[in-house]
Amino acid sequence: MKYFLTVCLNPVLQKTIVLPCLKENEVNRSSEYYLDAAGKGVIVSRVLLQLKNHTLHLTQLGGRNRNLFLEMLKQEGIPVKWVNSGSEIRFCYSLLNKEKHTSTEIVEEAVPVASDTEDKICTVFNSLLPDSLSVIISGTKAPGFSQSLYPRLVKKAKQEGKMTILDYRGDDLKESIILGPEVIKPNYSEFVATFFPKDRTPDENNIKEKMIQLWKDYGITTILTNGHNDVLYVEDGNVKNVTPDPVIPVNTIGCGDAFTAGFTHMYFRSRYVTEGVNFGLECARRNALTLKPGQLY
Ligand SMILES: Nc1ncnc2c1ncn2[C@@H]1O[C@H](COP(=O)(O)OP(=O)(O)OP(=O)(O)O)[C@@H](O)[C@H]1O
Ligand SMILES: [Mg+2]
Repeated sequence: MKYFLTVCLNPVLQKTIVLPCLKENEVNRSSEYYLDAAGKGVIVSRVLLQLKNHTLHLTQLGGRNRNLFLEMLKQEGIPVKWVNSGSEIRFCYSLLNKEKHTSTEIVEEAVPVASDTEDKICTVFNSLLPDSLSVIISGTKAPGFSQSLYPRLVKKAKQEGKMTILDYRGDDLKESIILGPEVIKPNYSEFVATFFPKDRTPDENNIKEKMIQLWKDYGITTILTNGHNDVLYVEDGNVKNVTPDPVIPVNTIGCGDAFTAGFTHMYFRSRYVTEGVNFGLECARRNALTLKPGQLY
């Protein structure tokens, strides 16, 4: 059975804590809190599965909480292939302020993976490629992997003729784009930090020019989400924009990943970027209205 292959090399145990209001330097008590398996690739898989796709998630896992993480994925029916990294799974915390409708994210940085993890990931990735419909690589990799890993994965996916969608930033992104992935979907500020590192507030026209240049030079469709602001995307060599429907968000964590999953689901079928973007927006909107990252309903 063929599947959408989601790759994320930075797993997370995500604690979502609902608070009536959030006060610094005080005791904040919560009677509503949840624990979910997360990391960007898990959320992409979770959304794709709810849209009735077959998926397979590839990650690295290690440490005391690995069995907990795997048990949670199993209970949800999220198929996973993993390699042992010896790296303790990090926790992240979403503090949801019901008074102000804000999500505050506390992110633990990952600990390095063991030195043989990279080769193990590449071997498993290569073995999973033939049966994959499309490859979606999301998020910054954990420390301990080399700078050549992401370009290596993209190159292999392209050699196998797989539609490749990337949601990461920085040098990893720069070194991957020359390999011609179909789609890149960092958010707006990640794109700015990657391509305009010295000018943190570049003119939007410069951003659009860069998006068109990536299209002309490498055939890449760039899509930039930006929270409640307009999404910019390239279609047929032109930059277009669309405004997300306004919502009073419950939890915006994972909105970018819900967007990527919704986009992939639709674009894979129709090959129309605008249709993909509109469906991505719908999935992101639904995600924003639920407590669990990547839950559509
Ligand atoms: N506050 C909001 N109000 C309405 N829509 C939102 C809001 N935040 C996010 N969204 C929706 O989610 C989409 C993706 O959000 P965003 O640009 O914040 O992704 P992101 O920064 O990549 O997030 P992450 O990587 O944490 O999942 C937006 O294009 C929008 O449709
Ligand atoms: Mg994102």
